[in-house]
Parts: sequence; C-alpha cells; structure tokens
Amino acid sequence: MLVAQISDTHILTPESDQPAAELRADCLRRCVADVNQQQPDAVIFTGDTVQHGRPEEYARLRELLAPLEAPLYIVPGNRDDKYEMRAAFSDHAYLPKSGELLQYVIEAPAVRLVAIDSTSHGERKGVFCPARQAWLEEVLSDQPEQPTLLFIHHPPFDVGDHYVGGYRRPAEAAALADIVSRHAQVAGLVCGHVHWLIEREWAGTQARIMPSVAVDLRKGIDETEARGRPVYLLHRLSRATGLVSQARRTS
Ligand SMILES: [Fe+2]
Repeated sequence: MLVAQISDTHILTPESDQPAAELRADCLRRCVADVNQQQPDAVIFTGDTVQHGRPEEYARLRELLAPLEAPLYIVPGNRDDKYEMRAAFSDHAYLPKSGELLQYVIEAPAVRLVAIDSTSHGERKGVFCPARQAWLEEVLSDQPEQPTLLFIHHPPFDVGDHYVGGYRRPAEAAALADIVSRHAQVAGLVCGHVHWLIEREWAGTQARIMPSVAVDLRKGIDETEARGRPVYLLHRLSRATGLVSQARRTS
C-alpha cells in the first residue's frame, strides 16, 4: 500500500494580512498536484491544517484539497478547531459525528490505518488521556495480525532540544509507547507538529515526523538546496518490507 502524508499546511484566508497566505496555499497546491502523479492508495493529513481554526480557513483548505484524487483522511493538530474541522469535512464519513475525539480506523486492503487524536481544546501540547489509551488498546487487540500504520499530530518523543516534553503529561506519552510496544503488528507511527524531518526507532517500531508543507515554517531542510519546493512523505507499507518512507520534493 502506498500512503502519501501531508501535514502542517497552516492555511490562511486570502484576506489575511499575513504575507505567507498565498505562499502556503501554493505549497499545498503543488503537493496535491505531485501526490496525484504518484497515485497513492490513500492520503493522510496529520494536522495543523489551518492557522487559526476558522471556518473561512477551512473553506479555503477544502478548495485547495479539491483536486486530490485519492481518499483523504485527516486528524486535527493543536492549531485546528476540531469542531470547525468536523463541520467543514462533514461529508467525510470516517470522521465520528459526535464526541470530542476525531479518531478512527480505516480498514484498507491488507493494511489498517489508525488515526489518533492527540488534541484537546485550548491545549498546545499532546494529549493521550485514559479514554484514548483504552480505545487504542482495544483497536490494536482487535486485529493483531494486520500490518498497521498509526498517524497522530504530536510525536510522543523528544526531538533534540527543539521539542521536549511535547505531551501535557509525560506519563501519557509513555502510555502510548507502552501500548504500541505490546502490539507487534504496528509497522510505524507517523506525525507532524515539529515541522522537521525525523526518522527513528520508537516503542519497537518505526516513527517518522514530516516537515511542514508550509515552507515558511519548516525546519531542518537545506533551503538553498530545496529552493522553496514543498516536501511531503510517501510511505510504502507491506507485510514483507514493513514501513519504507521517502521524502518527496515537489516540482
Ligand atoms: Fe504546525
């Protein structure tokens, strides 16, 4: 299965007085065009889709995503307002229609995609409360043999000095690692939030953080070499190879 990941687009309205508004829209446009050329089976969007969580920003986001051909699955980031997001994507049948958590399971052929909501209203840091812990434990116990890719906005581990203590309670990040480490079918966990390309082993599986699609916000990429070209990730996932990820630079 081929999964494209986009993240941290931080879309603004065209009326915004922030100079990056058109730049960020253009970054997403270029990603969508390139993703369509790669013909993935699914696209996952790991949050911070818009800058302020406003309905008019989500309207802009939907316009920009409209050309996307593959099925799109979104989770919120701390910049999102999940109620406005749910309203804007009300035609996305996989999103729970009620409750506080926008998390769900996609049963794709031969692979499961599990979206975990790490956000809580007014909280910048990651949250993985007991209700979410119980949900994930149940979801993973349900299909112990099926290769599974987890996606979530907040990485549950530190990244150097740049991102330390990213969860409101260290015990919650530790609980996520504990659950994942006990379920061998988890081929990987992919995240956003840090705007930086990171690959590492974590909790007995592979973890990836992707750079922000918004080039004015991304870190850890040689901008002289990248020349402002947006970058996203392509994940290949199979029982034979596990998770193989490629950073794809758009034209
Ligand atoms: Fe972000």
